[in-house]
Amino acid sequence: MNKVTGKTKQLGIIGCPADHSFSPVMHNFISECLGLDYIYCAWRVEPGHVREAADGIRAMNIAGINVTAPHKYEIMKYLDEVSEQARLLGSVNTVVNRGGRLIGYNTDADGFLRALEYEGVSPSGARVLLLGAGGAAKPLCVRLAQSGIKSIDIVNRTYEKAAATAEYVRLAAGFKAASAPKAPFGHYDLVINTTSAGMEPQLDKCPIEDMSFIDKDTFAADIIYNPEKTLFLRRAEELGAGIMNGLGMLICQGLSAYELFTGAALEEDMYRKIKRELFGA
Ligand code: ATR
Repeated sequence: MNKVTGKTKQLGIIGCPADHSFSPVMHNFISECLGLDYIYCAWRVEPGHVREAADGIRAMNIAGINVTAPHKYEIMKYLDEVSEQARLLGSVNTVVNRGGRLIGYNTDADGFLRALEYEGVSPSGARVLLLGAGGAAKPLCVRLAQSGIKSIDIVNRTYEKAAATAEYVRLAAGFKAASAPKAPFGHYDLVINTTSAGMEPQLDKCPIEDMSFIDKDTFAADIIYNPEKTLFLRRAEELGAGIMNGLGMLICQGLSAYELFTGAALEEDMYRKIKRELFGA
């Protein structure tokens, strides 16, 4: 680890809990690789104390923070500026302190697209199916809608939430080819699971029963990285699809946040290095 001195700049993550986060290990690893004088910690901030946390960042001149559940929405109220993109995506996961002004960004959805690119998959012209309509779904749908896809179908167990997300993508993001069918329809090039089915305590659950719309020409992605392969990804792989779990998104949202914090430009080799050396993948 870099030697911490009085000049070392500080970064960190706030959430509740925060001690499960991979971000400290990942950001400190990047600083060490690049020889940049930053240290990154995790701070548990209880609900109801987000305003004080934001004031503390200003007061102590902390260089930047990441924000995780459940504070990604509330933090927006206490910032001096929220990027247009983060406002459209509806949440903030990265806050940069620029001379005492706190600016909010969202790198989660970008992280997904960056990981796709590093795995050699282009969303351009793709017919996309997105499963789920919870907190992770909206930013992903909006970001995908900006990335040259052909269309996006949003399917969710609770239909009304899918319909609302599709409407948001049509109206706020101005992408007309967003819809919420009751069930998947036809062939998809890219299928993404954003539900919590497949994750503890739902390890044996798949977000959708009938996966016959998946074949060898489909790429299936999950935003879950623990377990490494959800039931959804295992079934997609059996059907011949290429697959990607959520680890790439986790790493890439961190790479994009690190770039905002420090101004450094990170390349694909840093992605590979983190995957290999920190995750053994
Ligand atoms: P968050 O906002 O943290 O993402 P959430 O709002 O509970 O959490 O969203 C979880 C998503 O996973 C929702 O789309 C949820 O579907 P519902 O809207 O019907 O609740 C979906 N989900 C969770 N468990 C599921 C399961 N076993 N099968 C299908 N979808 C599931």
